[in-house]
Amino acid sequence: MNNFVFYSPTCFVFGKDTESSAGAYVKKFGGTKVLIHYGGGSVVRSGLLDRVKASLDSEGISYIELGGAKPNPRSGLVYEGIDLCRKEGVDFVLAVGGGSTIDSAKAIAAGTVYDGDFWDFYQGKRIEKALSIGTVLTIAAAGSEGSPDSVITKEEGMFKRGASGDAIRPKFSILNPALTQTLPPYQTAAGITDIMAHLYERYLTNTEEVEVTDRLIEALLLTMVHEGPRVIEDPNNYDARANIMWAGSMAHNNMCGVGRSQDWNSHTIEHELSALYDCAHGAGLAVTMPAVFTYSMSHNVMRFAQVAVRVWGCQMDYAHPEVTAKAGIEAFRNFLISIGMPKNFEELGAKEEDIPKLVEVLCRGDGRDGSISGFVTLNEDDCTKIYKMMV
Ligand code: NZQ
Ligand code: ZN
Repeated sequence: MNNFVFYSPTCFVFGKDTESSAGAYVKKFGGTKVLIHYGGGSVVRSGLLDRVKASLDSEGISYIELGGAKPNPRSGLVYEGIDLCRKEGVDFVLAVGGGSTIDSAKAIAAGTVYDGDFWDFYQGKRIEKALSIGTVLTIAAAGSEGSPDSVITKEEGMFKRGASGDAIRPKFSILNPALTQTLPPYQTAAGITDIMAHLYERYLTNTEEVEVTDRLIEALLLTMVHEGPRVIEDPNNYDARANIMWAGSMAHNNMCGVGRSQDWNSHTIEHELSALYDCAHGAGLAVTMPAVFTYSMSHNVMRFAQVAVRVWGCQMDYAHPEVTAKAGIEAFRNFLISIGMPKNFEELGAKEEDIPKLVEVLCRGDGRDGSISGFVTLNEDDCTKIYKMMV
């Protein structure tokens, strides 16, 4: 196991009706003037936004609002939010919504107290300072409610890039699983896929002797395999939604990723798909992961065989571990299809003729040097082959 520092200071407030404590938590963490940030309107239609505002009112905290964060959130709204926060003297950003809204809120919070262009952070500059952030989560998926990361798409060039820094870890996150019951089944399934991706991206490591984090990841993957179909069958199953929601936060606050190298090639390759086609990130991952895993399998066949046996119940073939490894990847792919995720470019809405463009932006765009690196290093030729496997 490698040396590590684990810093995860987010206060998680979990359970039914917990959104009514939003005002109290903003106060506890020092907020006096709040920007409530939300997405395309699901929180307006469900009445959640009104409940959050009532909670701020009851604590005497003033607020302004900015809606319109899109899935795969854009830079334009971030600039607007930064101007608004400066003009109104905002000191706390409260995101009410999913990963896209939270990521947009994080970018606004960092950009408001930064003299330069906030996009610098998405080109590698670490975020050291930001307004305080809180979240009321409405979809179990991205894990942004407990992560130090934000992913934004820059409209000029449609570059989808990530930024990081402990300063954008939410001070608190309110997790009421009942709020996720209004999700369309496709979004629920995309969220399940993203959570499993966050676990696999950490499982695929080049670090040896990491039994404790291996076992944590396997437990969370097994939970998703159990609860995923239950929630797809009955969207109102609170208990299944509760287990998935907490698994989503644990999958991505890095408790499962400490002390080991991580992969993230599937995410990097997928981000070009959701940037170009505006597909759901989880749906893009459902098509991407089986191809990336199959292509990378020979790098460490036993890693794939291990998860095949421990999570997917495959029989270990000691003479031919690659057979076991492949069976595990196939079982994962079939699981994703069974919950309603796409299996290829066509079902995702992607086009084979765009592959050269995808590879160009992936490997060369925004200052990259011709390859991407994770569990294995992939050059342009490798990435072309991987995209072709998804057709
Ligand atoms: O915008 P609204 O109207 O709220 O509708 C949203 C959106 O259309 C809807 N929705 C959310 N909660 C709902 C609901 N509809 C009905 N009832 C509810 N309770 O669902 C749609 C998707 O929402 P979005 O926020 O985009 O989903 P998600 O949480 O999957 O976020 C995806 C974004 O997070 C990024 C992805 O790249 C993508 O841009 N990621 C962020 C990470 C991070 N910050 O740590 C890590 C992830 O790997 C990921 O890359
Ligand atoms: Zn993800």
